[in-house]
Amino acid sequence: MDHFEYRNGELWCEEVSVSNIVETSGTPAYIYSAATLLEHYDRVEAAFDALDPLICYSIKSCSNLHICRLLAEHGSGFDVVSGGELVRALEAGADPRKIVFAGVGKTDEEIHRAIDARIGWFNIESEPELENLIDIAKSRRVNVNAALRVNPDVDPKTHRYTTTGTRETKFGVDLERARRVFDQYGRQDAVLLTGIHLHIGSPVNSVEPYVRAITKGLDLIESLRGDGFKIDTLDIGGGFGAHYRASEAPPAVRYAEAIVPLLEGRNLRFIMEPGRSIAANAGILVARTVYVKQSGERQVLIVDAGMNDLIRPALYEAYHFIWPVQPPDGFVPVGRGEDVRFPGTVQMDVVGPVCETGDFFAKDRALPPTQRGDLIAVFSTGAYGFVMASHYNTRGNPPEILVIGDSHRVIRRRETYDDLLAAERL
Ligand code: LLP
Repeated sequence: MDHFEYRNGELWCEEVSVSNIVETSGTPAYIYSAATLLEHYDRVEAAFDALDPLICYSIKSCSNLHICRLLAEHGSGFDVVSGGELVRALEAGADPRKIVFAGVGKTDEEIHRAIDARIGWFNIESEPELENLIDIAKSRRVNVNAALRVNPDVDPKTHRYTTTGTRETKFGVDLERARRVFDQYGRQDAVLLTGIHLHIGSPVNSVEPYVRAITKGLDLIESLRGDGFKIDTLDIGGGFGAHYRASEAPPAVRYAEAIVPLLEGRNLRFIMEPGRSIAANAGILVARTVYVKQSGERQVLIVDAGMNDLIRPALYEAYHFIWPVQPPDGFVPVGRGEDVRFPGTVQMDVVGPVCETGDFFAKDRALPPTQRGDLIAVFSTGAYGFVMASHYNTRGNPPEILVIGDSHRVIRRRETYDDLLAAERL
């Protein structure tokens, strides 16, 4: 699953103890395991080997420059959705030909920047966007590659906020519209519309929605080819699951077993955009208990990280396994998440210091007796953790630390109060 494990009674990341890391970094802090990131990447690549995949890591999931650099050096391309993400990918050393650019609201400035960088593909989300891209490409006398994002109307059965491939969402165009888009724009050459892009949602912990979405995508591709359009690329987006509650995410090979046979021999360049499945289990958020408070019958553990550092529980009521970094004797877990059951635990709410009732990491969770000063780890926070952090309550963002074997280094320093005020000191 990952390279975080309890050894000699305390949590380690690869060959470094977590308590050792936070002694210098302080808390809260995000800690990432390089080996976990790369292993997850390799597993996706190996599973889909038969399709010679172009893996465009979804940078939005965990976008630290050093992590992007690690993945770029490992051969990864990047899925970006903003000018900022494009700049990040390029600074991390990405090969621009391996960059795909999605997003429903690409501005002219972002489009010009992406053309300047000579990215691989624009993933087009609507007719007005396509018309704009055609105008810009013509005015600059360039040809750009594009895939049309098609909304296959498949429900991935995930949180409604992270469902993207059903008809009512803002993403892509539906299958009927897709045909009309090709009829209308598929024969000009400023924007070479030669691909289909799908992304149904995230996380999708079963294979079947992919099979349905890809089957619909392939029907569209075959019928477009029948009409003389040259379609040479299929991008299936991201969405593969990660382990939050237990070992609930199918491994990459399970997805591949179902997807590869659909696509072999189709003469399509195959692109994937995994984010969570690479980064989620590669990171933890470490926080220190500030106070333990009794509220009626419940114990409330108040820690020094808040919803501004990790918003997933507040926003999606997402489950993250939480456990002390140095648990009391007899409470060292073997498994993770809902697999962990101990006699003698106490039901607690784990909350942050932010002034919102939604500022919690866990409700009514069974945890070992915990005291002021104890460190806790919030697991599986490598994806959509730091990247969604805010400055709410004028709280600086925590540092990010990357562990490689027995060494670790700060890859983003803790923000200071001066950082927080700098842009306003006018
Ligand atoms: N491709 C596109 C076009 C996407 O919109 C996304 C994610 C991905 C790829 C990567 O999906 P992944 O492999 O990471 O599942 N903040 C939410 C997740 C939002 C996902 C947005 N799009 C969360 O914390 O669960």
